[in-house]
Amino acid sequence: MEPSRDRISPLFSEARLQARIKELGAELTRDYAGKDLVVVGLLNGVYPFFADLTRAMELDFDVSFMQAASYGGGTESTGEVIIHKDMDTSIRGRHCLVVEDIVDTGLTLNKIRHLLQDREPASLRIVALLNKPKRRRVEVTVDYVGFVIEDHFVVGYGLDLSGKFRNLPFVGIYDPEHA
Ligand code: IMP
Repeated sequence: MEPSRDRISPLFSEARLQARIKELGAELTRDYAGKDLVVVGLLNGVYPFFADLTRAMELDFDVSFMQAASYGGGTESTGEVIIHKDMDTSIRGRHCLVVEDIVDTGLTLNKIRHLLQDREPASLRIVALLNKPKRRRVEVTVDYVGFVIEDHFVVGYGLDLSGKFRNLPFVGIYDPEHA
């Protein structure tokens, strides 16, 4: 069945997302003041969150992007994580903050964390807009979390179902009967 907007019920409004992102931005501004920072976004889903979060951080830092995939389409992870694009900035001896849209099984971030840790950054932390701890298959520390959610499949604000709905300004639950 084609993904349909009719199957989406709102979870976090645009106003609620933006208010929380402002809080996270203020926290990160305090924590990274005076540090040499590289902020790394995990494409594709992170793009709206990355843009809003980095603009809420009143600091100077480098930005870079990576792309990893653990989904082959649909709503279940294949368990395999492939790095499609690596970042083009050195993090050795620098503070590194990885920005992710949602942590589900933890497989993606676990792989990214190990990969980046091997590059010997001064510190490595993770910020995720959404965290689904009940779905975790591997332990991974998420240092900053926007919202903890139940085991729902969510779309919007960067999150997709088969490539659709990333452009919605809010986050909604997709009816699992039809996902
Ligand atoms: P993990 O490796 O299972 O933690 O999955 C992380 C990635 O899976 C995220 O970056 C998303 O691309 C995707 N993902 C996990 N849960 C959802 C969801 O509820 N909606 C849309 N994408 C999701």
